[in-house]
Amino acid sequence: MTGREHRDTTRAIDAATGGRRMRRLRQNEWSRRLVRETRLAPADLIWPIFVRDGDGAPEPVASMPGVHRHSVAGAVEAARQARDLGIPVLALFPFNEGGCRDENGSEALNPDNLVCRATRAIKTAVPEVGILCDVALDPYTSHGHDGIVHNGRIDNDRSVEVLCRQAIVQAEAGCDIVGPSDMMDGRVALIRQALDDTGLQDTMIMSYAAKYASVFYSTFRDAVGSSGVLKGDKRTYQMDMGNCAEALREAAQDIDEGADMIMVKPGLPYLDVLTRLVQEFNIPCFAYQTSGEYSMMMAAAERGWLDGDAAMMEVLTAYKRAGAAGILTYFAPRAATALA
Ligand code: PBG
Repeated sequence: MTGREHRDTTRAIDAATGGRRMRRLRQNEWSRRLVRETRLAPADLIWPIFVRDGDGAPEPVASMPGVHRHSVAGAVEAARQARDLGIPVLALFPFNEGGCRDENGSEALNPDNLVCRATRAIKTAVPEVGILCDVALDPYTSHGHDGIVHNGRIDNDRSVEVLCRQAIVQAEAGCDIVGPSDMMDGRVALIRQALDDTGLQDTMIMSYAAKYASVFYSTFRDAVGSSGVLKGDKRTYQMDMGNCAEALREAAQDIDEGADMIMVKPGLPYLDVLTRLVQEFNIPCFAYQTSGEYSMMMAAAERGWLDGDAAMMEVLTAYKRAGAAGILTYFAPRAATALA
C-alpha cells in the first residue's frame, strides 16, 4: 500500500466513523480497567460446600476437581477461609450415604443432622459468615427426589408440609437463609408462614424461583451421594428447558409469596432468563453456577484446553453482566483469592 492510498484509507475511515474510534479506549491496561462496566468482587460470591460425617481431612469429590466433602470441623475451617476472603455466605449440602436415607427423608427433620450440626458449629465459631441451607429432601430420600412420593407421584402438598418442618429445623439451628430448591407449588408462602409462626421472622428466604430440569446437576448428585439413588427424573417439578415466560410467572409467584431473594439455576445456559427476571423484578436475583458447569470447565482446564483461571473470571463476569446480584459458585474461594 502506498503512503497516499494509506492516507486515503484513514480519511475514509474517519469519514465513515465520524472519528469515533472504538479502539481508542482499549489501548492500555489502565484505560481498559477505567471503563470496565462490570466488576466481580468477593462480596458477589456464595460458596456451596459439602459436609460429611466423621473427622479427618477433606475428601475429594472425583467428578468435581478441587471440591471436597468436609467434616464439621472442616466446614468451620472453610467458613474461616470465607470470612478471610470476604465471601459473605456459605451454602451447606450434606453427603448422606444409604444408611440414613428413607422413603420420607426423615433425617431432614433431625435437629442433629449433619447440616444442622455444621450450621451450629459455624455460627458459634464464625458468626459473621452467613449460612444458606437448601430446603429439599433429595439428600435424605431413598428415591433421591426432592419431595414425598405418594402413590408413585411426587405429592406436592405432602412435600410442602415436610419442607416447612425442614426449614424450621434449619432455621432453629441458626441458618440465616433458607433456600427452597424443591420447586413445589406454594412452598415459599407456607415456609414463610411456618417460620413466622415459630418466631423466626428474621430468617431470609432465597427461593430457587426458576430451577430447570437440567443435566448440569449430575456431579452435585455424586457429591451428595444421590447419583445411584435417583429413580426417574425431576421433570414433574423442575422447569422445562424451553421456557422463559414460565420463569417470569414462577418468580412473580415466589416474590408474592414472600421470597426475599430469588435465583435462577443452572446459570450459564439460562443467562437470558436471569436478565429477564432482573429487568422485570426489583428484587435481588442470584444465579447458581451448577456443579456440571464447574466440572465441565475444570475438565477442560485439566487437559490444558482452557486457561482455568481466565475461563473462571470470564464466566463469573458474564453472570454479573447479565444482572446477577451474586453467584453461587464452587469457584468462590479461588475467585476471591484471585480478586484479592
Ligand atoms: C437439590 C439441589 C440440587 C442442586 C442444588 N440443590 C440438585 C437437584 O435438584 O437435583 C444442584 C447443585 C449443583 O448442581 O451444583 N434439590
